[in-house]
Amino acid sequence: MVLFSKLALAAASIAAVSAAPWEPSVKLSTHRPRAVSDDLTVESFHPTNIYETYGTGVTTPLKKRGEPSGSIEQSAASFVEEKLQLSSGEYNIRSSANTETGGSVWIQQLVNGIPVANAVANVALNKNEDVVAFGANFHGTSVSRRAANVAPPTPTISKEQAITSAERKLHGKHNDKAPTLEYYVKQDGSLALTYVVEVQTADGNHWYEAFVDASNAQIVATNDFVAGASYVAVDPQVQDITKGYNTYTNPADTVASPNGWHQVGSTVSTDTSGNNVISYKGSTTGTTKQSASGQVFNYKYDTSVGPTSGSNVDAARVNAFFIANKIHDINYRYGFTEKTFNFQNDNFGKGGSGNDRIKISVQDSSGTNNANFATPADGSSGQMRMYIWTRTTPNRDGDLSNDVIAHEQTHGTTNRMTGGGTGRCLQTTEAGGMGEGWSDAFAEWLEHKDSSVPDFVLGVWVYNNSKGIRNYPYSTSTSVNPLKYSSVASLNEVHNIGEVWANILHNVYAQLVGSYGFAADAFTNPDSSAGNVVFLRLFYDALLLQPCNPTMVQARAAWIQADTNRYSGKHACTLWKAFASRGLGSGAVSGTYRDSTTVPSGC
Ligand SMILES: *[C@@H]1O[C@H](CO)[C@@H](O)[C@H](O)[C@H]1NC(C)=O
Ligand SMILES: [Zn+2]
Repeated sequence: MVLFSKLALAAASIAAVSAAPWEPSVKLSTHRPRAVSDDLTVESFHPTNIYETYGTGVTTPLKKRGEPSGSIEQSAASFVEEKLQLSSGEYNIRSSANTETGGSVWIQQLVNGIPVANAVANVALNKNEDVVAFGANFHGTSVSRRAANVAPPTPTISKEQAITSAERKLHGKHNDKAPTLEYYVKQDGSLALTYVVEVQTADGNHWYEAFVDASNAQIVATNDFVAGASYVAVDPQVQDITKGYNTYTNPADTVASPNGWHQVGSTVSTDTSGNNVISYKGSTTGTTKQSASGQVFNYKYDTSVGPTSGSNVDAARVNAFFIANKIHDINYRYGFTEKTFNFQNDNFGKGGSGNDRIKISVQDSSGTNNANFATPADGSSGQMRMYIWTRTTPNRDGDLSNDVIAHEQTHGTTNRMTGGGTGRCLQTTEAGGMGEGWSDAFAEWLEHKDSSVPDFVLGVWVYNNSKGIRNYPYSTSTSVNPLKYSSVASLNEVHNIGEVWANILHNVYAQLVGSYGFAADAFTNPDSSAGNVVFLRLFYDALLLQPCNPTMVQARAAWIQADTNRYSGKHACTLWKAFASRGLGSGAVSGTYRDSTTVPSGC
């Protein structure tokens, strides 16, 4: 995977020579080709979003009529009905979340009463129930909707035929999720009626959601819930096993995990399983038991022998369990909670769907030199697979590389918080690329200990390479890292695109910390005014504001809007300058991939 992404970079550079710099990549924001086998590539289509942000907000029709608002859902519904000229039978509220700054509502288009899988809208409101952000890619306008070529609402093949077709074409097995019927907008504007069939491959590398045409069993599109990894940034001085162990006593943050990390319902475990996470090897019964009573897990990893020797596998399960829980608790403080579709078995009646703690398969046998994370919809567990790295003797274990774990887990965060918990909304090449970038950026955020912002290099220890696994360190220096928004035009691989976004975010972080300082208690205090806290607040707030399958320009707009919502725009100019310094200024236009270094007047 790592070597593959480097090859892909080289290939992309060659391809770009033959055409205008932006043309090869225009489809990045609307398409995702997936080679599912030697003879089949499915190119999924996600219609372009409109995305608008409104600063202090616009009044909803409901409020204009002076009607009592009642709920964020009703406010959002009145807004989209007017904005998209819809009647009440033409959309469905899919999910919603009240947040500290207001709320977000995710809406799906209905045609003939059937949901349209790739036609969604999102509305974000502030505390006054005014609309602050709106994204939508509903199919057609009021005019073209009537003209559209819509398949009849009744399937002509059976569910079983659809499953058989998906299994055969995707080389996997259908799981126990019952197929549903949804429309899918194709690139020609027509609506295909499809069965949505989940298929998982035996190697664990793919967990497809296939849209199988209900008239001819052809595969119209696929989403893949697995985000293949590249490995986390390890600052070699702080991030991995070579720095040794500390003993942490009662590390659970009871705001985020009220019953600690080991209790589910009334049952308290004595192994590496709990409400947020289970870590195991082989099968979920393969957990590590406490080494002494009272949930004492004292296993030391010995780097002089391999990952499977001695108690190393126990140390791997314990470290993965510890770090993933720690990240759960940090995430919770910053807004990834039950109602914003997080991963927990027991949601304590606080919203969202439960029974979906993160499963971490340590030393997973299905691969090497990699890791991945699958994010199905809220209510189904996220699945992290951690592999052994074979570039050294003895081999090294990604489970002891906190940056690898943080990178993978952040796929779960971004895939759930974007688009309302469906796992469907970071699927275009560009949005998937940003997914990789957020994962690197969060891994980096976790490792900062003071206000210095050194260059950040990923995967140093597992890869045994001081340059890590990315093409460049993340840096405020353009000579160390030359990537800018325009670099995307010649890239087509998600990790390479992710590097552009992560480097932009590294620069945003550096500007915020440079101007507003660093708080050492950021893991448990999201309310200080320090730059590192503001960064993570905006990071998470923006996920809830952005549209399904955002472009970089839209994701940037969501950050600016998030700052308006939470901080009344206090950091807007700092943010704009940082984004503009890497080409994502106010003149940047989605799909052109031309740098803009401009900032709004007044900055
Ligand atoms: C790590 O890489 C260095 C430089 O290539 C090599 O000399 C060393 O033996 C490697 N370490 C291990 C443990 O394989
Ligand atoms: Zn990744």
